Amino acid sequence: MHTLQLKGIEKTFTQTTISIPLLKNCTAVFEQGNTYGLIGASGIGKSTLMHILAGIDTPTKGLVLFDTTNIHEFSNKQRTQYIGFVTQSPHMIKELTVYENCEIAGKIAGISTIVIKERLDELFTLLNLSHTYHWNIGQLSGGQLQRIAIIRSLVTRPAFLLADEPTGSLDEITGKELLSVLLTCQKKWGMGLIISSHNKYITDQLQVVFTLQNGILVHAL
Ligand SMILES: Nc1ncnc2c1ncn2[C@@H]1O[C@H](COP(=O)(O)OP(=O)(O)OP(=O)(O)O)[C@@H](O)[C@H]1O
Ligand SMILES: [Mg+2]
Repeated sequence: MHTLQLKGIEKTFTQTTISIPLLKNCTAVFEQGNTYGLIGASGIGKSTLMHILAGIDTPTKGLVLFDTTNIHEFSNKQRTQYIGFVTQSPHMIKELTVYENCEIAGKIAGISTIVIKERLDELFTLLNLSHTYHWNIGQLSGGQLQRIAIIRSLVTRPAFLLADEPTGSLDEITGKELLSVLLTCQKKWGMGLIISSHNKYITDQLQVVFTLQNGILVHAL
């Protein structure tokens, strides 16, 4: 079982001459196999923290450890093998089909075309999206696009899946369906799942919930 750890994370943005400390001392341990929620007021720094946790953004101070390795020492290829990331408005390559968008994520991670095909067949079937293989990205609904983004992030079989407001642009029913998909995948592959969300119906179903307030993480009641 892998762990993902935040150790004394600080993040300060400098706008013109003013330095704004956003994250002051975020410390937490996330274990593979568990589910976590991250809540907090809009603008408090959740997305910033999620990007740091995924190794996409760097902290001003502090460490993110995947087991005992500093996540920033991983190459992009290694990082995507350990951590999947899904955002509220996933970016896709418009010139490629739905299938090709997912395939390319596997190729970047160095996975063979045959294994990618096996995994994608399984994922598209599990998420009821096999009929969309050859669609253009523009043909997908918001909920379908989110599920494709999940498939794309799971082709590497990451130990952790991070989702930043994955249901933010979806209605409640579609949002609940998406959460159920995330939890199904989490159980099936024994991943660690970390979701930032404003929606209580999402965080109510997660094992541990953290609130980000005044730049630190506290356990939500
Ligand atoms: N690259 C940047 N440069 C300067 N300021 C930034 C940068 N990225 C984020 N910020 C600022 O940091 C603050 C927190 O942003 P962030 O997106 O992390 O909040 P959030 O908690 O995810 O909000 P929301 O719930 O609305 O998604 C915002 O005030 C934002 O303007
Ligand atoms: Mg955000």
